[in-house]
Parts: sequence; structure tokens; C-alpha cells
Amino acid sequence: MVAKPKILVTRRYPQAVLDRIGQNYDAVINETDEPYDVDRLIGLAQGMDGLMPTLTNKLDRAAIERLPETVKVISTYSVGYEHIDLEAAKERGIVVTNTPDVLTDATADIALLLILGAARRGAEGDRLCREGGWIGWTPSFMVGIEVTGKRLGIYGMGRIGLAIAKRARGFDMEIHYHKRCRLSPEEEMGAIYHETPESLLAVSDFLSLNCPDTPETHHFLNAERIAQLPENPVIINTARGPVVHDDSLITALKTGRVAAAGLDVFENEPNFDPRYKDLPNTFLLPHLGSATVETRNAMGLRALDNLDAFFRGEEPRDRLV
Ligand code: GLV
Repeated sequence: MVAKPKILVTRRYPQAVLDRIGQNYDAVINETDEPYDVDRLIGLAQGMDGLMPTLTNKLDRAAIERLPETVKVISTYSVGYEHIDLEAAKERGIVVTNTPDVLTDATADIALLLILGAARRGAEGDRLCREGGWIGWTPSFMVGIEVTGKRLGIYGMGRIGLAIAKRARGFDMEIHYHKRCRLSPEEEMGAIYHETPESLLAVSDFLSLNCPDTPETHHFLNAERIAQLPENPVIINTARGPVVHDDSLITALKTGRVAAAGLDVFENEPNFDPRYKDLPNTFLLPHLGSATVETRNAMGLRALDNLDAFFRGEEPRDRLV
């Protein structure tokens, strides 16, 4: 009998995923689900053939270089892969895969929740109901921003951006987008292309950030770019925290230059800038984009499909390097 491949499973993934891992792999599983620091991860990786980490495991160049020679594949349980140094992995001949597609809908749903929650003052209203202060209906009580018919600018029109556009059309929003290459007319479905981020910003009543976290997009939304938005814009981030320069956004939310922000991701999460909490015009979620039972199962199964293919000697479907 051929020995099962040895893998390190760095978090406690859903039971359906762990069950399948148990059938096909000789796995070390993080049963307590405490986040591993890099030393712990490297220690546990000794003798492993592969790793199944996620976005909480920072595998930068230094960490990749410390991995044992036996590790030949890293299958991350996430669509984002900014936590893995792909160049360093490639240099070491380690194959890296991610889990696209399966979390597109769940993440787009959360973006719509943020659009509505930020524009219609969802968090503030909820607090008011719970904590008191509801004075009753008045014509001016807690009025928010109308979503229907507004212009939605999508910065980064990939799978998730497209799924947000599809949902936003249900609110009669006019869709604008920027990405490096223009989509085909079938993909655009009437969305208006902007060759530059500046041109997109100028028309974004709602700006949805949907780009990956890369050196080029780091702190993309800074004071200079906020100044290019129309009046009373609403900012939505379901991508990655570091795409926003917190100081600039917080200042703009305080002065009213930005009307509201709906944020699901933060720089340095979960230790995000506490000033966001003190602002009435923020609608904040703790990185819930992919957090549904169905999607978290599907992510695990997709990550396993990639590992299975690798260990069968086939090309994994979601190979990054
Ligand atoms: C979630 O943020 C992911 O990248 O999968």
C-alpha cells in the first residue's frame, strides 16, 4: 500500500473538509484552532509533503526558506494569496494553489450588505434600538443615502467585482469599473469602463474596492484619491484592509468628505484602527466575506481538489506558481 501524503492543516477547517482529509491524508490538524506563529508552523511542517494554510498564516520569503525540503505544495484555503511569497515558493520549486470561484457569491453578498448598511445607517439604527434613543418617527430621523440609481464604481473587476455588479443592477445602480484590461461587451453587461483609477473615482458615488493586496494597490485609497471622489461618497471594502490608508479615510469620515464606509476587511486585522469604532458613519464587519457554511465547505473541498491533483501528479486547477 502506498503511504498517504503527509500534510499540515493549520486551522480547524469545517468537519466535511476534515473528514475528507482523514480519508486521503496522513494529516496533522490544528484541532484547537489557535493561530500558529511562524516558528510553530515551521516546527510542525517538519517531514510534511504539503501544507494547507490560510490567510492567517504569513508565509513570507523568510518562512518559505525555512520550510523543510519535503514540502512540495502549499494549498491555501483562501482566494487571496498575499500572505504567501509566490516568488520564494517558485524558487524553491513549491507549487502554490488557492480557492477562487467558490467564495465569489458569498463575498458579493457581503458587499451589498455593506453598501446598504453604510448608506442606510444600519449599525447606528441597530445600536439605537438596543441601547435606547429612538425618539419615534420624524421626517428627519436617521435619514441616510439613497442607493437606488446611484453610480457604483468597482475598482478591480474580477470575479467578485462582477458578482457585485450583477447584484447592484437589481438596485438600478449604474456600474462603472476600472481594471487593467477592458472586459468584453458580454462580460461588461453595460458597465462603463474607465481606463484610469482617477476617471473611475470621479464618478463613484459608491466606491467598491475589489482589487488584490499588492505593492501597487497598497494604500490605494489615500487622501489624494479621496479628494477625487464626488460629494458624499460611500466607501466599501471587501478586498483587503491595506488597500485603504486608514488615516486618510478616518479623517475624511470625520470631516464629512466621505459620507460613510462599509468595511469587512482592515489593515492589521483583527487589531484594526480603533478610531473606526468611534465614528457613527461606519458599518463594520469582522472579515465575513466567505463566512457561510456552504462557502467555507466549498473552499476546503476546492483546496483538497488541488492537493489531490498535485499528489496524483496532475496539474492542480488553481495553481498560482
Ligand atoms: C478571504 O478573504 C479569502 O481570501 O479567501
